[in-house]
Amino acid sequence: MSAPGSAASGVPHLDIDPFDMKFLADPYPAHQQLREAGPVVYLDKWKVYGVARYAEVHAVLNDPVTFCSSRGVGLSDFKKETPWRPPSLILEADPPAHTRTRAVLSKVLSPTAMKQVRDRFAAAAEERVDALIEKRSFDAIADLAEAYPLSIFPDALGLKPEGREHLIPYASVVFNAFGPPNQLRQEAIERSAPHQAYVAEQCQRENLAPGGFGACIHAQVDEGAITPTEAPLLVRSLLSAGLDTTVNGIGAAVYCLARFPDQWQRLRDDLTLARGAFEEAVRFESPVQTFFRTTTREVELSGARIGEGEKVLMFLAAANRDPRRWDSPDSYDITRRTSGHVGFGSGIHMCVGQLVARLEGEVMLTALARRIAKIEITGEPKRRFNNTLRGLDSLPVTITAA
Ligand code: HEM
Repeated sequence: MSAPGSAASGVPHLDIDPFDMKFLADPYPAHQQLREAGPVVYLDKWKVYGVARYAEVHAVLNDPVTFCSSRGVGLSDFKKETPWRPPSLILEADPPAHTRTRAVLSKVLSPTAMKQVRDRFAAAAEERVDALIEKRSFDAIADLAEAYPLSIFPDALGLKPEGREHLIPYASVVFNAFGPPNQLRQEAIERSAPHQAYVAEQCQRENLAPGGFGACIHAQVDEGAITPTEAPLLVRSLLSAGLDTTVNGIGAAVYCLARFPDQWQRLRDDLTLARGAFEEAVRFESPVQTFFRTTTREVELSGARIGEGEKVLMFLAAANRDPRRWDSPDSYDITRRTSGHVGFGSGIHMCVGQLVARLEGEVMLTALARRIAKIEITGEPKRRFNNTLRGLDSLPVTITAA
């Protein structure tokens, strides 16, 4: 057995750094290299195992006893290093602790809860499209992908109007912090104090409006499901994972539909494809690119022996384009059967907010396709760099109303 941090024999060693700027700017050639090198690889730069094929990513996600989350889903091993913030009670937890907190958030973000916000989310999407038609030329990231979720999600949570400018920067810190101690992570954490202070304050029961997702989490204390000290941390999970992810999800969908006019036309011809168009964008662009797990024991994975206490990096984005699993993986096809993609994860940690994301995506794409004939990209799209999230910083477009 090899010592922790050194790979077992037979596992190909690669000197790819999945968190450097070149990789993040264009991950696709490296994703292919990672998939082709073998079912399990070893990344010397950060001394971690990696899985980039669909079968292994799916297997790791679905064996949470062996590949745990409680030692952190970033590079940092919580058994050896102090986490930069108190760990998440859901994302960074294993059963049985995870089972209890997961049940609470599943209830708060249930199909019934979605029915209650659906009309509001749809009306806000229509209003946004009205404003965009008025503008004609705009930045599809700032004015659409960010503006839309910001116009509904903080209200749905029950946040006060003041201080909301901290939300996206806070999420950006959270997702950068899953990465290695590179410049992206270090700078994000150095600047995080005001964002952390804002979030800690807003998660308190007295600061959350009645009827919102936040208040519903606190109400679970009265039911005996969670303790008063757990509730604010579960609200924090929604602040961490509920906004920037959908910004990048909606941004991805608009970027796809602008680049592939045949798919845009298909959507315009049949608005019931809006859900599929959003889901396929989550597969195609994978707004959440990677997560880690830590092994709790020595394990054999597709012929590779991995020791206890090793970090395993799951390339969700590479799995979502693995030709072993998908036909024409590099084409954006809104009628594709996307079921099984790992853009929202898989298994017990699979995105608990997926119904919120899908609802936002569906109503926004429906509103756009109903009212807009054409979306043209009119300037160079600029990428936003993050250790975990993939998305754009700006996407200049001009639209033609239908
Ligand atoms: C397109 C948008 C979204 C994407 C791509 C996305 C992606 C993911 C992924 C890949 C995971 C799995 C993490 C793991 O296995 O370690 C996850 C978990 C999670 N997501 Fe999302 N997410 C999105 C939207 C949301 C929204 C809107 C919310 C909240 C309202 C949310 C809250 C969470 C939480 C709390 C978890 C942890 C669940 C658990 O550990 O059981 N996400 N998400």
